[in-house]
Amino acid sequence: MITLSVIKADVGGYVGHSHMHPALIETAKSILSSNNILIDSHITSCGDDLELILTHKKGVDNQDIHKLAWNVFEKCTAKAKELKLYGAGQDLLKDTFSGNIKGMGPGVAEIEFEERPSEPILIFMADKTEPGAWNLPVFKMFADPFTTAGLVIDPKIHDGFIFEIHDVIENKKVDFALPKEMYDMLALIGQPSRYVIKSVRRSSDNEIGAVTSTQRLNLMAGRYVGKDDPVMIVRTQSGFPAVGEALEPFTFPHLVAGWMRGSHHGPFMPCAQKQANPTRFDGPPRVICLGFQLNNGKLLGPVDMFDDVSFDHVRHQANKVADYMRRHGPFEPGRLDANNMEYTTLPDVLKKLENRFKPL
Ligand code: F6R
Ligand code: MG
Ligand code: MG
Repeated sequence: MITLSVIKADVGGYVGHSHMHPALIETAKSILSSNNILIDSHITSCGDDLELILTHKKGVDNQDIHKLAWNVFEKCTAKAKELKLYGAGQDLLKDTFSGNIKGMGPGVAEIEFEERPSEPILIFMADKTEPGAWNLPVFKMFADPFTTAGLVIDPKIHDGFIFEIHDVIENKKVDFALPKEMYDMLALIGQPSRYVIKSVRRSSDNEIGAVTSTQRLNLMAGRYVGKDDPVMIVRTQSGFPAVGEALEPFTFPHLVAGWMRGSHHGPFMPCAQKQANPTRFDGPPRVICLGFQLNNGKLLGPVDMFDDVSFDHVRHQANKVADYMRRHGPFEPGRLDANNMEYTTLPDVLKKLENRFKPL
């Protein structure tokens, strides 16, 4: 069995929250080059987030792997402080490692499986948004026959998929078998700030097809720290959505939460990695996708999957939607609703106004 762990954190931005300083990538690479527990690693970034893509044989939630990732983030934080990068160490909510990196700030998506004769994997990474941003595209990938033709014409996936949904507010989970329970699931995942798709398994044999990071930084910290900027692993082809089916949902730049101060809705813009530097109004929210062929756990790649002219019009549309949403200024639904503003700095402003109110 091979385990693929994608673990990420924002340990300091360059400039502001827009980009990754190359020194952090170098620091992470130098630490990971001398370990004896990984099969392979690829260190990269999406916007201001440092992304560790790791393969090994230790299974999910492994303490040694999580400790290694924590160590990388700590060393990179030290480097970020030395360079006075912005928000150095912002996602590291704890001082010392306590056995599992989940709950300590970083985002984690891990998957364990028997590597197939050929194993094409897509790793999606986002900046300036929250884990619920994956709900719509993952639903389309694994449940919408207008997106994934294989659901209709490939007997291997014709039985559908089982979705595990997490309620990140009450810390509960529930499974839905699609297509039969599609409407029940949609009743929940249409509220992406609370209900998020954690994983997807093939109904016929329970084989894992996708897993996301569901960590909500502000819920963990109890205050606004930064946005979660989630990641997702998707296995493709031969009994899973084809690569092109898994990418197809991103031709719709749907509105997600997380733009500017984590407080605004913006279009989820698929872009090449070199374009994933959220500058305009600290955004708009980005998604990149790196493709790998696994070779006995080695990461052959990456291929920058959205670095393709066939996504140019999506980016164009996203920019138009960005203009439209920006014109709302401080008004909803440009700005998030009151529930979702709870963990921003807005409540501090509202507190000051409390005494000004008189009874009607
Ligand atoms: C960071 C983010 C940014 C910041 C904004 C203000 O995830 O979304 O939009 O919230 O740049 O940052 P501060 O309050 O540090 O000046
Ligand atoms: Mg940041
Ligand atoms: Mg970020």
